[in-house]
Amino acid sequence: MKIVSVAEDLNIEKRIAITPDLVKKYTSSGFEVGLAQNYGKHLGFTDEDFIKNGANIEKDEKILISSADIIIQHGLLSDEKISYLKENQILIGVFNPFLNQEKLNNLNKMNLKIFSLELLPRITRAQSMDILSSQANLAGYKAVIESFAKFEKAIPMMMTAAGTIPAAKVLVVGAGVAGLQAIATAKRMGAMVFATDVRIASKEQVESLGGKFLTVEGSENLETEGGYAKEATDDFKKKQEELLAETLKKIDIVICTALIPGKKAPVIIKESMIEKMQTGSIIYDLAAIQGGNTAFSEVDKIINKNGVQIMGEKNILNKLPTSASNLYAKNVFNFVLNLYDKDNKKININLEDEIIEKTLIK
Ligand code: NAI
Repeated sequence: MKIVSVAEDLNIEKRIAITPDLVKKYTSSGFEVGLAQNYGKHLGFTDEDFIKNGANIEKDEKILISSADIIIQHGLLSDEKISYLKENQILIGVFNPFLNQEKLNNLNKMNLKIFSLELLPRITRAQSMDILSSQANLAGYKAVIESFAKFEKAIPMMMTAAGTIPAAKVLVVGAGVAGLQAIATAKRMGAMVFATDVRIASKEQVESLGGKFLTVEGSENLETEGGYAKEATDDFKKKQEELLAETLKKIDIVICTALIPGKKAPVIIKESMIEKMQTGSIIYDLAAIQGGNTAFSEVDKIINKNGVQIMGEKNILNKLPTSASNLYAKNVFNFVLNLYDKDNKKININLEDEIIEKTLIK
């Protein structure tokens, strides 16, 4: 079984899917690993680092891709690289089937087996493969770092002979995986942290991290059986708006993470709320790529509204690609092992396994 990966377009994606440590794991599990030349160079991993752990480096990507049994990437391959693919190969990555339906249909027609890992079920057995969690956790951390760096005041409370600096007040909107890490990071740096979510279950998690949960009065729990958020009712939205309008007047930094799977992100921070925020406040919108949680979020831009800076990025993980790659590569390795029938040394696409069935693009 030969596993292959080639570098992506580095302007879009700096993460890699196989790190030197993981080469060792694949080879000791009985796989052969083939990588493109300079595969990890931009992250400081030399070809030698991969070779000494058992990988083969190939200059010609056409030879490399066409010789693979399994190809592991992040995003979709370029059209040129797609033309090197062969029937019955397995393609694993994060292919965003909502956006790339047509391309994926065409790949399916080529008789490839395509697995898209953002479709993994959120079940205990899939936790070690859960790329959404591993990457959202890092995104939540980095959103705090980016917004704190932009903020022109100190974060922790400081009592000095020259006077006291108050702790910065941070509001985290959406307390899922990214939001909880944002709370933990902001707390560690000395901020006073508030958070809100439509799922009541998140209240306990927020409080266990030292955050103050803002409960929307009389709200029902808007959680699906799978643990995701349901779209909020008009009544909830109105009450949430009133609560946030008051809270935001005294907040310095907002980290937005609220998402509803398969839908545009809800607009939670309205223009009228931003108008009343203090000059110098920062909003980092992790939901910007899905439309944004504020009325003004734009991808890869910093928007200034009455002195409030609103920022969001296409791919915040490109700012910590080494950590993100280390976790992603491990997630994918665990996914591949679940597909692999060790005794017969072959891939077994067992559609009775929920993990395999749900991630396979049909
Ligand atoms: P997500 O990225 O889809 O959404 C982020 C957060 O935004 C969620 O907490 C959601 O409730 C919240 N949200 C949505 N609309 C909102 C609104 N109008 N106002 C305020 N908040 C709003 O969610 P994520 O981070 O992927 O987590 C989803 C669930 O999956 C959570 O319950 C999490 O604990 C669970 N999970 C379970 C795992 C498992 O293996 N059992 C692994 C990882 C997550």
